[in-house]
Amino acid sequence: ETVDWEPEAAEKGGYDHYMLKEIQEQPTSLRQTLEGRIREESVSLESFPPGSFTDVSTVQFVACGTSYHAGLYGSHLLSEGGVPATTHLASEYAVYPPPIDEDTLVIAVTQSGETADTLEALRVAKEHGARTLAITNVVGSTAARESDDALLIRAGPEIGVAATKTFSSQVATLLLVANRLIEDVTGELLDGHLDRLESLRSLPSFVQTGLDTSQAPAVADQYLSDGHFFIGRGNGVPVALEAALKFKEITYEHAEGFPAGELKHGPLALVTADTPVFVVCTGRDASKLESAIREVQTRGAPVIAVAPRSMSDIIDTADETLTVPATHPDLVPILANVQLQLVAYHAAAKLDRAIDKPRNLAKSVTVE
Ligand code: G6P
Repeated sequence: ETVDWEPEAAEKGGYDHYMLKEIQEQPTSLRQTLEGRIREESVSLESFPPGSFTDVSTVQFVACGTSYHAGLYGSHLLSEGGVPATTHLASEYAVYPPPIDEDTLVIAVTQSGETADTLEALRVAKEHGARTLAITNVVGSTAARESDDALLIRAGPEIGVAATKTFSSQVATLLLVANRLIEDVTGELLDGHLDRLESLRSLPSFVQTGLDTSQAPAVADQYLSDGHFFIGRGNGVPVALEAALKFKEITYEHAEGFPAGELKHGPLALVTADTPVFVVCTGRDASKLESAIREVQTRGAPVIAVAPRSMSDIIDTADETLTVPATHPDLVPILANVQLQLVAYHAAAKLDRAIDKPRNLAKSVTVE
């Protein structure tokens, strides 16, 4: 007698796809990311003691794909904390770099550490005399070796082509490193710094609660369409962009993500009753988001709010809600993104797509 045993099925830990396994793993991977890095009143980053960044005046993030969205989140965080910061698509930066000098810290955000466009951007930054830092998941990757410093996101191996747990760990790592940068560059701690640290400590359990109580499978089922919009404001924008990218990658259906304020400057022309609009609400900008909701509802579009339960005005206005645990508004993007990862996953599963290996895509793109 033989026993059917497929090594791949065993590695998927009982899930149909690596992607779902990796989404579900996020409380654990985030715990690994944060392990030993949060002290009572400060962050503790192995190679970056206080004062490590006092020579920095400007930060430029370079990245591609999902990592670019993490970079957008990072520059938003730094700018809010008083550190001039911008995020660039690595392929553009490599050819059309902005002004760079010795006081510029260039941070490459790259899960694999092997993305050719990102490596090229790093080289250009170096040639211009910038200090470089790689935020990566892979010890000894090219980005880690070629940068002045490296910081590991410690998410563990990610097999699914569509990045999920590594995005969350990148964002969590950026929260830590932003803390150090803001303190070193501005000489001051961010307002509410202790609150944020405290919430960060509880992030893995918030993510677990979000996974355990998610309405994403039903929402994915109900709002399957050939055009989806994802909108947000502030640090909800990177989530809107990331959600649309994830949706395109694995469902092969059209999806657009953009800042809610831009709706009226063009995309609104596409909105019909067949355009589900997902609104990412992180706990800020509620009234601005409500006006965007009304704009699309007037055109008959169903609105799905992704928001903490405390945002009752948004929730009451929306047709459907994916609730996330209420926590610091800087952390809600991670929780909202997890819900939208699940929506993309369940929509793709319903369409029977090749979720772990979408057509035409590669986990790591090593050509420019
Ligand atoms: C590829 C992957 C994306 C990823 C991007 C950047 O396009 O399919 O999921 O976001 O590369 O990868 P990196 O390893 O640099 O984060």
